[in-house]
Parts: sequence; C-alpha cells; structure tokens
Amino acid sequence: MKYNIALLKGDGIGPEIVDGAVAVLEKIGEKFGHSFDFNSYLIGGCAIDKTGLPLPKETVDGCLESDSVLLGAVGGIKWDSLPGDIRPEKALLGIRSALGLYTNLRPAKLYPALKDASPLRSDIVQKGFDLLIVRELTGGIYFGERGYREGKFGREAFDTEAYSTIEIERIGRAAFNAAMKRNKVLTSIDKANVLETSRLWRSVMHSLSDEFPQVKYSDMLVDNAAMQLVRNPSQFDVVVTSNMFGDILSDEASQITGSIGMLASASLGDGKRGMYEPIHGSAPDIAGQNKANPIATILSAAMMLDYSFDLHDESECIENAVRKALENGFRTADLLGVGRDGAISCSDMTKKIIEFI
Ligand code: IPM
Ligand code: MG
Repeated sequence: MKYNIALLKGDGIGPEIVDGAVAVLEKIGEKFGHSFDFNSYLIGGCAIDKTGLPLPKETVDGCLESDSVLLGAVGGIKWDSLPGDIRPEKALLGIRSALGLYTNLRPAKLYPALKDASPLRSDIVQKGFDLLIVRELTGGIYFGERGYREGKFGREAFDTEAYSTIEIERIGRAAFNAAMKRNKVLTSIDKANVLETSRLWRSVMHSLSDEFPQVKYSDMLVDNAAMQLVRNPSQFDVVVTSNMFGDILSDEASQITGSIGMLASASLGDGKRGMYEPIHGSAPDIAGQNKANPIATILSAAMMLDYSFDLHDESECIENAVRKALENGFRTADLLGVGRDGAISCSDMTKKIIEFI
C-alpha cells in the first residue's frame, strides 16, 4: 500500500526528530513492502517568518489531502513576544481544530530499562505502570471566549471554559472504547467540587458508564489525580480528562516514565486521518545540536501506523526496536540525567532503533 503523510516539522528540535521518524518509517516500508510519500508544510514560527502566519492555508489544505500528519514541535524564544493570535502555539490549536481532532491519546508506560531514569522511588517503580491519558483536544478553556475588559480592580484579562454535552460525550465514548481494548478500567478526572463544566462532565460520563457496564469506572478530582500519579501510578489504566487538565497531567505522566522525550501522542477525530506528535515542545535550548531524544516522535509514527493505517505488526515492530535500543543501554542526554556521560546523539539513537527493525 501507498500512504501520503504530511510532515509538519515546525521549530526548534522539530526538524531533527521528524527526520528520525521519517527514517524509521522508510525502514518499515522497506521491510514490510509499503511506500510512504512525505510532503512537508510550514507551521509555527518558521511559517510566521516565511509567510507572516503561523498556520498558512496551504498547510491546512496539505494536511486535509494527506492520509495522516506527523508533527514535530512549534514555538521558540524568537516568537514569544508576539500577540496571542499569531503565536506559533496558535497554529497547533488551529490545525487540531481544522482537522477535527478532538481525541488526544497519550500513552505513558514505564520501559523496564528506564526504571533508573524515573524520578519515582524504587518501590513504586518496581510495580511498573502503563496508562493511557485520553485528553479532550478541541474544546474547553483552550478554545473559550477570552480577552481583556474593565474589572473591579481595573483592566483584567479573562479566559473561559465551556463544554457542551456533545463534546463531553464524544471524548467519553472514545475513552470507554479505549478502556474496552485495554484493562477495562477508566478514571475520569475533573474538578467537580468547584467547576460547573466539571459537573456536567461528570454527569455525562456517568450516563455513558451505564452503556459500558464491563468498564470499571470512577471519578477523581484533578488535584488528587496529580498526587496519585506519583504516589501509585499503577492504579491507572485509562484516564479521561479535559483539554487543560490533560495537558498538565500528561507532562507529569511523561516525567515518571523517565523523560518527557519518551511520550508519543495521537490526535484523532471521526475518520482515519490523525495527527501524531510528541507531547514535548521545541526545546530551543538544544535545537540544531543533534542532542534531542527522537523516541517520542518515532513512537508517534508507530501510533500512526496502528491507528490511521491499521498496520499493527509494523507498529509493534517499531515499539520493539525502541525497547531493544533502550535495553542495550543506548541513551540520549535527557535519559541519563545531569552530569552523567555516555549520551548518544539524536541521529545515532535513530540509527540504533533502525538496526533493531
Ligand atoms: C501539548 C503542548 C501544547 C498544548 C502547547 C504547545 C500549545 O503543551 O501538546 O501538550 O498545550 O496543547
Ligand atoms: Mg503540553
């Protein structure tokens, strides 16, 4: 089969890590007899520099014409003082929304080889963990009404969170379905003791749980969830939550796996086309130095094969190759910690993973 993939390399380390994932996909194509066609489009800061806009129309059109999208990262110091509307991050929200990608899957699991890299105490790490965060991606406070106005104490800024029943129901359904394919345990995370949106969220989740009696469902408040993630992460299987809570908790979940450089993500809508990206940012401090960890992006490519193309063996093959590279002791700098040497480069980590394919 032939697949068309749109590449949105973006800024900072984006180009390096996407190049790594492309090399891995090419190797998979060779091994399994598929052909991948790649077309690159501008997004984020590099798009602002070349066109004045963070998300040019050709980029959206290119993604809509592709079978799937692989994204690196956007943003950097250079564009940090631009107004909210033309910041690189706006492009990320724009493309998620334009492609209708309301479900964001962020798996966080501990590779046994990385136990030492996790900041958690050894008795906690010993139990291992393998959880999936299902984050709502096109609603909530990220997309609500915002602006400036005159308030009680003078000029003030505001952002608002709104969630409709339909938006909650479709992300809830995605989470229940994901739980059915895993260990059938679902935790919905909210702040229903304070927020009205969370109270609606909770009531919709409860109605859905009647439809999925095999899934063991429970609610958890977000502050407690932040604590439980470091106290006992093995209690979680699938977690479903709002856009902002999911953003925050997924960074926390990534760190306990050893490094934020490990976490892949899939953003999905109603069809097969998805956008796949590492959860980390553009890391401007190490950009262009061939130091970044390409694993999160390589695993994102594996998720693309799995979810968008139904190439399950091929996807597993990539995951196994990553596991073997780690088991054989290969580490990028983020996985070693400060002051420890022996780190390999982004391109060498890619080569090692390819050797194991
Ligand atoms: C993420 C990122 C983005 C988000 C930023 C860069 C807009 O943090 O994908 O988690 O908040 O969604
Ligand atoms: Mg984030």
